[in-house]
Amino acid sequence: MTSPSAILGIALSSEIKFGLNFIHPIMMVALLAATLYAGYLGWQWRVTRQMPASEEKKALAKQRFNQRHYIWGSAILAIMVTGNVGGIAVTYINNGKLFVGPHLIAGLGMTALIASAAAVSPQMQKGQDWARNTHIVLNTALVGLFGWQAVTGIQIILRIIRNYYNGN
Ligand code: HEM
Ligand code: HEM
Repeated sequence: MTSPSAILGIALSSEIKFGLNFIHPIMMVALLAATLYAGYLGWQWRVTRQMPASEEKKALAKQRFNQRHYIWGSAILAIMVTGNVGGIAVTYINNGKLFVGPHLIAGLGMTALIASAAAVSPQMQKGQDWARNTHIVLNTALVGLFGWQAVTGIQIILRIIRNYYNGN
């Protein structure tokens, strides 16, 4: 069979193919930390927004949690979509197929969740509570799936390392 990297017109040594496996997991573990931080910023903004006018509210508002959350959130959206595509690409380059298992399905589901959560941003900015609640529910599900994705992802990376050193 013509290998996937040959179809792309590039010959990859087995070392490079092995090395490619580490880009996606490293990127995604950093993304998990960034997602938790973005969640913290979003929550701080909610607390600030709901606080009655006071000196404390003014002090919190100075920290611009809403703008910082928006910047982090947007970056996370881009990196998650790219990382998902990357995980699929590397799996295909190395195996000539995808493995339809929990990691693939949950990864695709997470990508749909974060796209939908980001899509209600204009309504949140208009002050619509339904949009805020939708955003929070979708992103809470996202964080839950992310924890599971880390577990199945680490299982995959351990299997890849084991197979490489066993010469498979
Ligand atoms: C949390 C830490 C994560 C770890 C440690 C991890 C690890 C891995 C590993 C080792 C692979 C095999 C391909 C490769 O080596 O590059 C992989 C594939 C993949 N990853 Fe991840 N991943 C993580 C998070 C994510 C997230 C957040 C998504 C999507 C939003 C995702 C989506 C995918 C997909 C779709 C594949 C292809 C699966 C297949 O066809 O078998 N991963 N991941
Ligand atoms: C997909 C990327 C994301 C984008 C584009 C985004 C964007 C936004 C925007 C525009 C707001 C409204 C800010 C305002 O009212 O000025 C917001 C609020 C919020 N976001 Fe996100 N966000 C993202 C990801 C996340 C994630 C991953 C979490 C949680 C882990 C999260 C949790 C929250 C919370 C708790 C609020 C406060 C809602 C309220 O004011 O009641 N967001 N987000």
